Amino acid sequence: MCGIMGTINKNNDAIQKVIEGLERLEYRGYDSCGIAYLDNLEIETIKTKGRVKELSQLVDSNIKTNIAIGHTRWATHGGATTINAHPHTVGSITIVHNGIIENYLTLKEKLINNGYTFKSETDTEVAGALLDFYYQKNKDIKDAITNFIKEVKGSYAIVLLCKDIKDKLFVIKKDSPLVIGTNQEGVLIASDIPTISCECEDYYLLNDLEWAIVGLDKISFFNNNGEEIIKERQVFKDAALTYSKEKYDHFMLKEIMEQVTTLSKLINYYLEDDRYLNLIDISKFKRIDIVACGSAYNASLVGKYLFEEEAGIETEVYLASEYRYKKNFLDKDSLVIFVSQSGETADTLACLKKIKETDAKSLGIINVEKSSISLLVDEVIYTKSGSEIAVATTKAYTSQLAVFSLLTLSSLVKNRKLDKTDAVITELKNIGNDVQTLLKDTSKYQEVAKKIVASKKIFFLGRSIDYAIMKEGDLKLKEITYISSECYAAGELKHGPISLIDKDTLVIAGNTNKLLYEKTESNLCEVTARGANTLLITNKNTDSDNILIPEKSIYVSPILEVIPLQLIAYYTGVLLERDIDKPRNLAKSVTVE
Ligand code: G6P
Repeated sequence: MCGIMGTINKNNDAIQKVIEGLERLEYRGYDSCGIAYLDNLEIETIKTKGRVKELSQLVDSNIKTNIAIGHTRWATHGGATTINAHPHTVGSITIVHNGIIENYLTLKEKLINNGYTFKSETDTEVAGALLDFYYQKNKDIKDAITNFIKEVKGSYAIVLLCKDIKDKLFVIKKDSPLVIGTNQEGVLIASDIPTISCECEDYYLLNDLEWAIVGLDKISFFNNNGEEIIKERQVFKDAALTYSKEKYDHFMLKEIMEQVTTLSKLINYYLEDDRYLNLIDISKFKRIDIVACGSAYNASLVGKYLFEEEAGIETEVYLASEYRYKKNFLDKDSLVIFVSQSGETADTLACLKKIKETDAKSLGIINVEKSSISLLVDEVIYTKSGSEIAVATTKAYTSQLAVFSLLTLSSLVKNRKLDKTDAVITELKNIGNDVQTLLKDTSKYQEVAKKIVASKKIFFLGRSIDYAIMKEGDLKLKEITYISSECYAAGELKHGPISLIDKDTLVIAGNTNKLLYEKTESNLCEVTARGANTLLITNKNTDSDNILIPEKSIYVSPILEVIPLQLIAYYTGVLLERDIDKPRNLAKSVTVE
């Protein structure tokens, strides 16, 4: 999704810094990009429908300047064109923006009536025009920004240049993340922490409706009424992120392989000194709702299964985009869990803000530390899988599954339903070895990839927890291969979708639950009888064409089951020569509704 980068520095290498930042933002997914900088006291803007690399080739690398802003755009209002790319200049204002201005049509009409004309189809140009409209009244940028905040509805992270104030950047934030970092050379502004943590020592996070005037020597912060406020400076403690694929062809493959360590580290951190027993006790609540999007939603379906089947606590899972407009039935005995890799997903964040008005307790299962959701929930459990660069999540997803296992086990031990020394806990501790076994020989996944490419239709089937895992396998395949696939609960197939099954279909099924082995096998007989080819992912002795995973408890088995599916999607994407790490139309962090 859209990314923002801006800088003021002493070194006169602002263009280079912004281009480097935009490259680091590429992982979020985008379709056009642009940069604006001060050159000989004039603001120059360069934009392209292409990648950041092409943008850098369009910019004259000899230009030395100390101030620049840049943007990667993921189209919402208006197509992915150079004209619609940011920055947009209207009058004295040059602006980059993340988010959505919801009342932009009303504002546009007002501005047209006041003589403004528009080149692009974007809501961002309207935002720029509104700022200019107020700025021209008395040439006071503070007034312009406070009036802007009063009038605009929607979400925005904005960085702007004003052509009359050549040594400052102005930033405004509501419902879309923005961070201001500092170092010896100056200031860097970005739409996410990882983009600047490799360059900065300290940082400031803006809250909603706050804005700042950023100069080389001073940053001043204001609230929505234009009153100056004090902001706490935070220090980057963790090692800077690395953006290297190392020996791998893609970040996605690197991140799949990293699961040996991300899972072992996470689990051993919580099992060491019995830290997992300090996790929130889910059994204290009468109602649990889990809210998430995409893969985090799929992980939550596994969580529901564990909470209900193992801990006996009724749990509902909701898509955040649905939950945010749904009536809720929450009270002080309710727990709402928000699951998100980025911690910034707009719909999930909006649901959290909504439930904050109730008596329910909120828990976040989040990967990115200090992200918006992690800062707003009552309690947070970090999934500790490190930065994930590939758009399609892998290691963060399996860490979410591990957290659900830990939460369930924690509750069982605390309520004396399970002993601390139980074999399932030892099994969880050793997960790294099992993951390693599955990753060792990738040739069988490459064979499946060939079968997928040779088939016209792909179906994923499973029952209970296998169904939840197959949903993730299906999503991974769609995301990075653009193949149209379907996923059904195995027992549901005969209620319609079976009409699609024929000899050109490959059915990939998960079958790891002893109690349901035969049921799923019967469903597979139904598809083979109609000519389909099948591939099983199972822990039951199987013929060599299928994929065998180690037979483990329910706390470990789903994690092992998804790894072959991640690799199958990956190798299919490779065979089809897809843009694996940055699939078309997708964004890593979906910061618009
Ligand atoms: C986007 C990503 C998915 C991700 C989903 C939720 O759609 O492409 O991979 O699962 O957002 O993101 P979150 O950061 O909230 O887990």
